[in-house]
Amino acid sequence: MAILNVRQLGDEILKKKCKPVRLITGRIRQIIDDMYDTMYDAGGVGLAAPQVGILKRIVVIDVTPAPDPETGEEPEPMRYTMINPEILETSGEQRGYEGCLSYVGMSGIVTRPDHVKVRFTDENNDTYELEGEGLLARAICHECDHLEGIMYTERVEGEVITNEQLDEILKKEAEENGGNEE
Ligand code: NI
Repeated sequence: MAILNVRQLGDEILKKKCKPVRLITGRIRQIIDDMYDTMYDAGGVGLAAPQVGILKRIVVIDVTPAPDPETGEEPEPMRYTMINPEILETSGEQRGYEGCLSYVGMSGIVTRPDHVKVRFTDENNDTYELEGEGLLARAICHECDHLEGIMYTERVEGEVITNEQLDEILKKEAEENGGNEE
């Protein structure tokens, strides 16, 4: 297990385009394991290799929902290792707050497709086509952007705010919507 240093906004490596993985070696599998360790340690739902200083087209995503609060039932895992991911189709639109482990403690509104079809290879060299919606679609778009050297801050609508400010906004929204729950 290794937790890698996550590069932060302003680091030149985050602006570079990544190279395809040609052969899935033990070294590549090690990078993937370390990327998961690093992502979970930081409490993220996605991480791209350039964020840990490796200019290869590798992404890890885990958007598994929390267990059911009443039954404790574990949902189906939604964990994906994507090598050389390629977005084939997008449709719809979702507008919402987004953050990044390369800009800790900050969030901003980004509009993304609500539905994404992606092709990728996993660590066992199997190729998949996956369709994702909602948070998964957002994570796929965000992480694939990293492989092109694009940070979400380039796509933000309005200001980037601190997570404390975001909590305030969400609290206010919840209070405003509170009357409708009956
Ligand atoms: Ni990110």
